[in-house]
Amino acid sequence: MLRTFFFSVYFCLGGKAMADISPLLSRLPSLKLVAHVNILTEATEVHALTQMNSYYANKNIKADLWIKRDDQSHLALGGNKSRKLEFIIGDAKAKGAKSLITSGNWGSNHAYSAAQAAKRFGMSVDLLLGNQPVSENVKQKLLADFALGAKLHYYGTQIGLGVGIAKSWLKAFFKKDTYYVPPGGSSPVGNLGYANAFLELLDQVGRENMPKRIILPMGTAGTTAGLLMGRCIAGLENEVEIIAVGIANGPLSNKKLLVKTAKKLEKFIHKNLSDEDRKKLSDCHFENKNPLIRYRGNYSEPGYGEASEIVHDLIKLVEEKEGIKLDPTYSGKAYHHLHDLISVDKKPVKTLFWMTYNSFDLNQVINTYPWSDVNKKYLDLPKKFHSLFN
Ligand SMILES: Cc1ncc(COP(=O)(O)O)c(C=O)c1O
Repeated sequence: MLRTFFFSVYFCLGGKAMADISPLLSRLPSLKLVAHVNILTEATEVHALTQMNSYYANKNIKADLWIKRDDQSHLALGGNKSRKLEFIIGDAKAKGAKSLITSGNWGSNHAYSAAQAAKRFGMSVDLLLGNQPVSENVKQKLLADFALGAKLHYYGTQIGLGVGIAKSWLKAFFKKDTYYVPPGGSSPVGNLGYANAFLELLDQVGRENMPKRIILPMGTAGTTAGLLMGRCIAGLENEVEIIAVGIANGPLSNKKLLVKTAKKLEKFIHKNLSDEDRKKLSDCHFENKNPLIRYRGNYSEPGYGEASEIVHDLIKLVEEKEGIKLDPTYSGKAYHHLHDLISVDKKPVKTLFWMTYNSFDLNQVINTYPWSDVNKKYLDLPKKFHSLFN
C-alpha cells in the first residue's frame, strides 16, 4: 500500500496524474491511493447523432440519439481499453512489474491496446492469442502487435488458450516483475476506468441532461460493470438504464458475469476507501434479478468475430451518415440492438450509444517495423501464425 501511495505521489508530481480521473476523485477523494497513469488527455466528446436522428425521422421513427466518443480516447490506443489501461499500468508499475502478460483472440483489441500501452510505458508484454475467424483486420492486428514489440503466443483452440491463461496467471503469481492482466483488461483495477467514465459523462452534460438509456457492447463485462458502478456512485441507478449487448452470449459471457464483475468492483472500491468516503457510498443493487441491469444476449449471432448482414448494413449506414466506423465484432452488434429498440419507441427517448471501438489505421503502426519482406510481413511472426496469412 505504501508503495502504491508513493507511486500516486510520483505521478502527481509529474503534473498530470490525477486530472483525468477527477470525476471519480471529486466524489471519492481517498481513491487517490490507487495508482494511475495518463493515457487520455481529456474527456471524450459527447454529441448528438444528428444525421442518424434525421434519417430515422424520415422513416417515421422517433429517435434522440447521442454518442460518447471513446473511439477518440487516444488515437493510437483508443477505444474502451485506454480507460482500463490507465489504472492497470499504474497498478503494475506501482507493484514494480516490468512486464505484462495478457490474452485475447487473434484479433483482440485488448491485446493490441496492451501492446501499445506497454510500449508507451516502457514495459514488455506477452500476448496469448486464441482462435477466431480470420479477417483482414485480424491479420493487421497480429502484425501491429508484433510491430509494437509484443511477444505473440499462438493458441489454436479456446481450451488451449484457457490452459495458457491459467499457466500465465500462475507465472505472474510467482514472478513479481510480471503483472497478469485478465482478458479484456477486466480486473477491478481496470474497470475503475469506466466508473470514472460514467461520472465524466455526468460532469459533461449535467444531471438534467443525462440520457435515459446507455447502450454498449459487452464481452468480458468490465466496461459495463464500470458504468454500473459509476451510475451507483452518482446515485442514478433508477434514472439511467444501462443496456449491455452481449457479443459472445454463452456460459462465459452473460448477465451473471456482468453482475459478478460489478460486485467485485464495488468490493474493490470499498476496500480502497477511507471510512469517511465509504459512508458516502450507498449499497449498489448488483443482483441478477435487478431489472435495472439490462443484458441482451440475442444479438451475438453468428458468433464472435462475425456479423449478420443487417449488422454490416447498419455499419455502412452509420459511416455514410455520421462518418463513424463501427466494427462487426462489438459496436455493430450493439448498434443493431439500439436500432431495433428505437424502432418500437412510442416517443423519442434520449439514448446514448457508448462508442467503444477505435478504427485507428493499423498501417501507421505496421509500417514502423523493418519487415524482412514487405510483401510477406507475416514471415517475421512466430511460425505458428503463418498459416493464418495464406
Ligand atoms: C471495441 C470493443 N467494444 C467492447 C468491448 C467489450 O468490453 P468488455 O470486454 O469490457 O465487456 C471490447 C472488448 O474487447 C471491444 O474491443
